[in-house]
Amino acid sequence: MKKEAKKTMSRRTFMGTAASTATAFAIVPSRVLGKDAPSNKLNIGVIGVGGRGGADLRGVETENIVALCDVDMEHAGNTIKKNPQAKIYRDFRVMFDEMEKDIDAVIVATPDHTHYVAAMAAIQRGKHVYCEKPLAHSIYEVRKLTEAARKYKVATQMGNQGHSSEHIRLCCEWVWDGAIGDVRQVYAWSNRPMGGYAFPSGLPRPKDTPTVPDTLNWDLWLGPAQYRTYHPIYAPIYWRGWLDFGTGALGDMGCHIMDPAFWALKLGSPVSVEANTSYNPNPEFWMSCLGRGGSPKKEIPVYLDKLRKETYPVASIVRYEFPARGDMPPVALTWYDGGMLPPRPEGMEKGHGGNGAFIIGDKGVIRHGSHGANGCRIIPESKMKEYLHRLPPKTIKRVKGHHQDWIDACKGGEPASSNFDYGGPLTEMVLLGIIAMRMKDEKLLWDADKMEFTNSKEANELIKPTYRQGWSL
Ligand SMILES: NC(=O)c1ccc[n+]([C@@H]2O[C@H](COP(=O)([O-])OP(=O)(O)OC[C@H]3O[C@@H](n4cnc5c(N)ncnc54)[C@H](O)[C@@H]3O)[C@@H](O)[C@H]2O)c1
Repeated sequence: MKKEAKKTMSRRTFMGTAASTATAFAIVPSRVLGKDAPSNKLNIGVIGVGGRGGADLRGVETENIVALCDVDMEHAGNTIKKNPQAKIYRDFRVMFDEMEKDIDAVIVATPDHTHYVAAMAAIQRGKHVYCEKPLAHSIYEVRKLTEAARKYKVATQMGNQGHSSEHIRLCCEWVWDGAIGDVRQVYAWSNRPMGGYAFPSGLPRPKDTPTVPDTLNWDLWLGPAQYRTYHPIYAPIYWRGWLDFGTGALGDMGCHIMDPAFWALKLGSPVSVEANTSYNPNPEFWMSCLGRGGSPKKEIPVYLDKLRKETYPVASIVRYEFPARGDMPPVALTWYDGGMLPPRPEGMEKGHGGNGAFIIGDKGVIRHGSHGANGCRIIPESKMKEYLHRLPPKTIKRVKGHHQDWIDACKGGEPASSNFDYGGPLTEMVLLGIIAMRMKDEKLLWDADKMEFTNSKEANELIKPTYRQGWSL
């Protein structure tokens, strides 16, 4: 019986089975098939290739890129041209139907609101998945993807690529070494949505109705989101600022910037979250609120309420509270965006930089930039220099890059470091902040096991989205 099963096992089934049978796999690809043998390459399909998907594709180009799927042939044009060997699709459901047996693994780099439908379709077919950050658009979708990845035993990785860096590992090892003592406060910030890779926020829904370009399938772009007429203020790229499609500045950058603290402090789920938001693009408004120290609760003109139903704020401050974890004390984590900044810790000589975090311990502070604790240092510099003489051993496994880490996992290696069991809870934390923004100025109490807020029926309604007809959760 066993012999027969072996004989008929397709290459794809082999890849899938082996991913959950690590010991068998450690031997087969490298010694029997040869590391670079064609049969040891994954067949990869990429869904959403016009923007970040193109960069993700370059991260896996050691493998066979067999299919590219995009709904916008103009935006995706360059990547398609560079991959003439790949079959081209507009609808990922058709791609899966036609290439069921030919695809081992999938990259999902569509806008946030279509991550779930594409990634879940792949997982349920036993495909390994690399999904861009944030893992999905809503907490319910994230939880379901995390559970499904476990159930179908596929290799996963979320696209917070800094998680594979040296700096994030150093940051964790220094914290665990006690270099900055017990940590009770973390400040993280981003210059989005106005700074850096800026995108519009605080806008009303456009009234004009431009023609949908011939190259774009707008209905597929909308996917499960509620119908609205096409406008270039949504696609490509600018969907980030709109509630229906993106996750604002926090969703765009939170999985990069809060990743080091989440890992080093083993934060898990917060017990509460609260946000103060501004839809007023006048920075003086916010500065005057901050100066008083307390929560900014100024009256906001009624007309701005309309914007709250359409877009993320122009600026926000989100406060998370985490309980004690093992021998680590409770932590308050505060997120700032839109030009808001946390206080500069004593001994910090220069400005904040556009994106970063301070991890504040009772014996010192670690500061770092974005994407995996980039530029991680203990401040002041004198303390860092002194610590360089007694650095702790490197106990966390180093990897050869974020995409390679996933490829190795697909081929039966250890789970990738930001697999959905890690990337899922990290994204849930980020998305809790998004709900708090929508419930402005209200402290929400979170029960992670039950996946519900214990003090707000209205907030609970934002956990699970309502899909457009034809799409199911
Ligand atoms: N890890 C990073 O550093 C990083 C950087 C940028 C973006 N991202 C993430 O990547 C994702 C995409 O962002 P972007 O900036 O590339 O956006 P984008 O709008 O530039 O590109 C998205 C692409 O997906 C395509 N698409 C949309 N719906 C689709 C569907 N249903 N099926 C197939 N293709 C579809 C679009 O046509 C477009 O080509 C987002 O989740 C974003 O957060 C991650």
